[in-house]
Amino acid sequence: MASFPRFRRFLSRARTLRGFAPLALTALMVAGAAATAGAQQYPNTTFNFTTDLNEATTHLWDSLIFWATIVFVIVEVGILYIIFKFKARPNSPDPEHVHGNTTLEIAWTAIPAVILAVIAVPTVRTIFMTQAKAPANALQVEVIGHQWWWEFRYPEYGITTANELYLPVSRTVNFKLNTVDVLHAFWIPRLGGKRDLISNRTNYLWMTPRDSMTLKALNGFCTEYCGSSHGNMKFRVFMVSPEQFASWAAHQKAPAVFGVAPAVAPVAAPVTPAAESTTKAGQVGVALANAAAPAPVGFVFPREKLDISTIPTATAPASITFPAGMTGDATRGQAIYSRSSCIGCHKIDGNPMSAGIVGPNLTHLASRYTLAGAVFENTTDNLVRWIKNAPAMKPGSLMPAIGSGEYNPAIKANVTIGGLSDQQIADVAAYLQALK
Ligand code: CUA
Repeated sequence: MASFPRFRRFLSRARTLRGFAPLALTALMVAGAAATAGAQQYPNTTFNFTTDLNEATTHLWDSLIFWATIVFVIVEVGILYIIFKFKARPNSPDPEHVHGNTTLEIAWTAIPAVILAVIAVPTVRTIFMTQAKAPANALQVEVIGHQWWWEFRYPEYGITTANELYLPVSRTVNFKLNTVDVLHAFWIPRLGGKRDLISNRTNYLWMTPRDSMTLKALNGFCTEYCGSSHGNMKFRVFMVSPEQFASWAAHQKAPAVFGVAPAVAPVAAPVTPAAESTTKAGQVGVALANAAAPAPVGFVFPREKLDISTIPTATAPASITFPAGMTGDATRGQAIYSRSSCIGCHKIDGNPMSAGIVGPNLTHLASRYTLAGAVFENTTDNLVRWIKNAPAMKPGSLMPAIGSGEYNPAIKANVTIGGLSDQQIADVAAYLQALK
């Protein structure tokens, strides 16, 4: 049979290709699993249809991948065909030597040029769409990057907060992006593309979240390397209904609920632990009852709706010790806070002593779920340790160690003057936790 050798060659080629079959099958399975798992398994996936912004970019991505796959298959089939069709065989003559083929060269230059031109049309259209000015009635949110936390301002509502964003669904939000120090980048993967925060320049990013996002908690990230705690510069986004947002905003705008303003005391007055220890600890409830009648607390994102991926799992290092079960007194804490170095950096509306702007605004700290750039859960255990030695919990933290005797890397020495005792820290924490 004349065709027998050819048939044997075909069989041997088929055996060679058979080696690739498991690989191809695995690739198909991975692709299929990724497509079906969706947002539950990948809480930070960016391929969603949750806003007009990511709908536009996801459609563009999908169509480009579709056409690129077709081109890839055509090219690979062509390569494989040529490899097997023209491979050297025993006793085959030397191939013909040619130099250049004008028709071929024009073709393989012109075809990619045409493909690129075709791709450019939807790409440029999407770029123009995402770079356009936001609608005038958009909710303005000023995003200010700090090493290593996020400041959020709602000028329309007179709100300044930190690390946790509330956004109403169905209303375009226009983020105005600035930084006070180095470059950062703002990214909420579930809502759409990222954009840089550039020194001495203002960038904008806007999108309209769909109704389906109501009561979803999302992660936000810094995605531009910005120093030692770049990876600790996160934030949370709480998607709420317009009514819930109005309730939240009205409350956030109001001064802190807790108590009355402390009597003006000399800023430099030393704290005397002896005097404080005479008051009984563990009186948070009593102290609050004595304070001015608290205003009703506005809407807070329900804890049971937090996605597991939005609950921080980081824990404070064991090197920061704190007496177990020590409780603080909020009124005493307010007095300590109001004459400590805290007020130089932090602002608490309703406490006239506390007007710093370098650090996060703490007015409604107790209504937040996270601390320190959304790296730690806002619990008593984390809060007292954070006050005691923030740099040990977050490398490079501008917030210094406050606990007496703690090592402060900023001055390469242990904290002595002005340092707070554990009891004083517990009191300050009780005060901050009363700021709903
Ligand atoms: Cu800010 Cu990275």
